[in-house]
Amino acid sequence: MDLEIKGRAAIVTGASTGIGLAVARELMENGVSVLIVARDQTRLEAAKRDLASFGNVQAYAADVSSAGAAEKIVESAIRHFGQLSILVNNAGRAHAGGLMASTEDDWNDMANVKLTAMRRLCKAGIPQMQKNGWGRIVNMSSIGGIYPNPKLLISHVLSAAINNLTKSLALEVAADGILVNAIGIGAVATDNWSFNMIPAVRRTRPEWNDLSDDDVLARISAEKTPIGRAGEPKDIAAIAAFLASNRNGFVTGDTIEASGGADRFM
Ligand SMILES: NC(=O)c1ccc[n+]([C@@H]2O[C@H](COP(=O)([O-])OP(=O)(O)OC[C@H]3O[C@@H](n4cnc5c(N)ncnc54)[C@H](OP(=O)(O)O)[C@@H]3O)[C@@H](O)[C@H]2O)c1
Repeated sequence: MDLEIKGRAAIVTGASTGIGLAVARELMENGVSVLIVARDQTRLEAAKRDLASFGNVQAYAADVSSAGAAEKIVESAIRHFGQLSILVNNAGRAHAGGLMASTEDDWNDMANVKLTAMRRLCKAGIPQMQKNGWGRIVNMSSIGGIYPNPKLLISHVLSAAINNLTKSLALEVAADGILVNAIGIGAVATDNWSFNMIPAVRRTRPEWNDLSDDDVLARISAEKTPIGRAGEPKDIAAIAAFLASNRNGFVTGDTIEASGGADRFM
């Protein structure tokens, strides 16, 4: 399917690995120039080298949660590409734990990277899309924004807020030709799972102590996910690319569930 986005320009945050890297590649394979963003410069440059064979890619190292970063990221995209049509707010991670085990810093750090950065990037990017009379925003959320799991309280409260922001913003900018959607992601095998989720799963399943991380993910996915497997970054990238494309002309304000049918994954 031709997504009809050849020649457009995108920002993908959190694109040095995992889902964001797969989204950047999918967009580039459809002829989009992409500015990839993440904090670790070395990993970001490695991702840029990996992506270079698919088309025009530029990199900007930034912490999306720092004040002023959103404006600088958008400025960088305009400097490189002369325009901005697509914004994929993907940077972030999970925080495993309930309210009582979490700290004020956990809450603030997660809110800054997931929600505040998203608000700032939308605010900085939308005027560029309004100039084109065309824009697409995709916000990475979690299935827990729809079906909250107390074992991931902060992540899921913020995901619900992302879904709400997505809906309201979609209504605000619909007349400008800008469509805004979210993806309610289930368990997808990435570094995020290895670092933030597997240790929490292990705490509840001491009988799996001898299993490798990959086997723990396979077991918990088979148990919790109706289709019987964890997602792969490319599963999410395909949906993000469609939502970010001209072939999507009628879906806006929605949170697409992409979880293999699971309503929780821990
Ligand atoms: N994987 C899942 O099962 C799952 C489930 C639900 C929702 N999600 C959401 O999907 C998104 C992508 O997840 P993933 O699994 O692909 O994660 P990942 O593999 O851990 O990759 C996260 C990416 O975000 C970047 N990043 C993190 N904090 C950042 C910050 N403050 N500023 C700029 N970049 C930052 C990381 O690079 P640096 O560390 O170098 O900055 C990396 O490129 C996240 O928002 C996550 O919450 C994932």
